[in-house]
Amino acid sequence: MNSLLDFRKRKEAANPISVVTCYDYWSARIINETNIDAVLVGDSVSMVVHGFPSTVHAEVEMMVYHTAAVKRGLSEKFLIADLPFLAHRKGKRYLMESIDSLMKAGAQAVKIEGAEGMLDAIEFVVKSGVPVMGHLGLTPQSYHQLGGFRLQGAEAESAEQIEFYAKKLEDAGVFSLVLEMVPASLAQRITESLTIPTIGIGAGPHTNGQVLVLQDLLGLTKDFDPRFLKKYVNGFELLKGALRQFDEEVKQRHFPTAKHSY
Ligand code: KIV
Repeated sequence: MNSLLDFRKRKEAANPISVVTCYDYWSARIINETNIDAVLVGDSVSMVVHGFPSTVHAEVEMMVYHTAAVKRGLSEKFLIADLPFLAHRKGKRYLMESIDSLMKAGAQAVKIEGAEGMLDAIEFVVKSGVPVMGHLGLTPQSYHQLGGFRLQGAEAESAEQIEFYAKKLEDAGVFSLVLEMVPASLAQRITESLTIPTIGIGAGPHTNGQVLVLQDLLGLTKDFDPRFLKKYVNGFELLKGALRQFDEEVKQRHFPTAKHSY
């Protein structure tokens, strides 16, 4: 997939879309050799790579730096970059300069969290020629307001609000919508009511696609075991084992051998 037009085609063909996050060149090179459809330089980079407690710590400069690194490792995939915390709330000039930097770093689209108070700005960005991906449900940049990383839309009132803004975002021109940590039934209703594809994370099996954080699905984020996550490999133990082996072989003088010497 190398264009946003493919997103809607996939929905029309009922052909699921796979998305993973990526923050660096070498991971991008691995993803590039798979059939994964699209790559998101998520602001989760601030937590996964930089060790901050939330995505509030992501900055435009951080996102630009990682987007450029990922772009260098990709040849085919559709690349989306997150607009970080408050970048869309600091006035139109800051918003557009941030997007300009992300697109010049290689992003083909930006993801903007939330919708309330943002619809005009999102429409302006779309009409400026920038594809925008929406993000509703658990919006981690609002972590402090939401009281933590928790299921959203479980009560009728909040479910209605998410449905309302999903439609508004579609009207504002977003090309797809991430639904994070919402009940599967709500995600299904929203998916069926929209013409744009929904991409779920912790939103059940009925969305038009799924996204996971790369390090989570590779089992590298130790002690992170939310119900929605499937770890496809125990990467943490696998890599730890390789490092231990290297350490032992150095100390026992088993590495390097003649084979590794000049
Ligand atoms: O930043 C991120 O990783 C995300 C995904 C979880 C959708 O926004």
